[in-house]
Amino acid sequence: MSCPLRLTVNGVPRCVEVETQTLLVHAIREQVGLTGTHVGCLTGDCGACTVMVDGETTKSCSVLALSAEGTEVETVESIADGDELHPVQEVFWDEFAFQCGFCLPGMLLTAKELVEQQPDADEGEILRAINGNLCRCTGYNTIVAAVRRVVREARAERGAG
Ligand code: FES
Repeated sequence: MSCPLRLTVNGVPRCVEVETQTLLVHAIREQVGLTGTHVGCLTGDCGACTVMVDGETTKSCSVLALSAEGTEVETVESIADGDELHPVQEVFWDEFAFQCGFCLPGMLLTAKELVEQQPDADEGEILRAINGNLCRCTGYNTIVAAVRRVVREARAERGAG
């Protein structure tokens, strides 16, 4: 059987019916049925549609679904372990780092990538990392505090002070 688009989403191989102009964000939400990835601006500015593609945060509204052929996509639904929140989710919860929650999936994936790829991120790197994720409630103080704490706790866990 021919398959328009094959990719892996959250570890599950998928064959997805898409048109040539379908955006990855719409394929994830409408064909795969994972609606944690949000549609905001559709212009690559807000970060609500952030997913991981082959381990890199990607604004899925800026990617044609067909160009994701063969990739490994991770969405926000993948980061908790059943009922157990990911440490980044725990910190956002503790710090009340969300209001309406619309930006939260993108913020979580961006913070998770930061701590994995730049575990010694300084203040400037933290701010740059979340620069592409907008909070329409403008709740940035708690979000930045949460990301700082994610980095601090990950550093402490590594015994790096
Ligand atoms: Fe993709 Fe805003 S919806 S960046």
